[in-house]
Amino acid sequence: MTILGIESSCDETAVALVRGSGDTVRETRSLVASQAATHAKTAGVVPEVAAREHVGAIIPLLDALLGAWKTPPKLDAIAVTGGPGLFSSLMVGVETAKALAFAWDVPLVRVNHIEGHVYSPSIGVQTPLRFPAVALIVSGGHTELIAMRGHGQYRLMGRTRDDAAGEAFDKTAHLLGLGYPGGPAIAESALAGDPAAFDLPRPMMKEKNLDFSFAGLKTAVLYAVKDVRFDIKVSKNDMAASVQAAIVEVLVEKTVRAVRACKAKTVLLGGGVAANDALRGALAGRIADEFPFTDVRIPKKSHTTDNAVMIAAAGYHHARRKRFVRPERIAADPNWELV
Ligand code: KG4
Ligand code: ZN
Repeated sequence: MTILGIESSCDETAVALVRGSGDTVRETRSLVASQAATHAKTAGVVPEVAAREHVGAIIPLLDALLGAWKTPPKLDAIAVTGGPGLFSSLMVGVETAKALAFAWDVPLVRVNHIEGHVYSPSIGVQTPLRFPAVALIVSGGHTELIAMRGHGQYRLMGRTRDDAAGEAFDKTAHLLGLGYPGGPAIAESALAGDPAAFDLPRPMMKEKNLDFSFAGLKTAVLYAVKDVRFDIKVSKNDMAASVQAAIVEVLVEKTVRAVRACKAKTVLLGGGVAANDALRGALAGRIADEFPFTDVRIPKKSHTTDNAVMIAAAGYHHARRKRFVRPERIAADPNWELV
């Protein structure tokens, strides 16, 4: 099956083609137009600005992906992100997908953005996913532990009660004057820092549930930075390393507990924060040590931040089960919860 994926939920416009067969999905081509430079000026995404950029980017991207569309491409389905995300951004992708589905008479699949991240580490992997699986999805808007019994069968095990992990990276980077997006900036600064330099809290670590909370961490960094003894030039790298260590430790510990609780055979990592090398290394290392028979799937870096390959990949698993949606029945849903 050949699937066209379209993603526009936040600040990247993305299109991709994948081929799926059996349990395996392979990337054929992927294009992403990032708005990061635009949003860096406002240190965050302004929804109206994002939507306008999506409108300008989507048709040129599809042109570049599919050629000049002299003949409609041979597609088995079009998969589009239906939510969650910014309403005006989502609408651009959804309306484009609807128009193409009508014009080309191709079935349409609606994909939850989080489900895309769940499938991102399995792109190109030939061996079938072993269930039950536990997915840790960490992005700018989400921090969730999701149990998976089978394709399309999800149960929420834990989530953040306030800020997402990516938000914690972004906000602390802002406090340290490291720019936006904060995750890569903190990771780079942390390379030259000492992770034990500051004794930052490990929020909710002692609590038995699988929820997270990162707002307190940001406050702790704010107080430290405001302290008269804090010399930002001297301590920036140490603080970045300490923040990263605190976030990674909590994420890995709670994932380990989730794996234990549902006897998971596979651990899946996804979302923008999955690009973080400290997290990738710590998660793979802990799972290998404690659960040697559990597979760990870590996404390619290009599949961590928002992209359309993952949307097409998740869409493939719906399309092969013929879970299509009629174009007139599909609308952008900014609050669509996967579980
Ligand atoms: O999945 P994503 O592209 O967009 C959302 O759906 O939110 O994730 C973006 C988030 C941002 O908060 C960014 O700071 C974070 O992912 N991020 C990272 C790294 N690269 C991106 N966080 C930590 N380390 C990184 N290397
Ligand atoms: Zn995302």
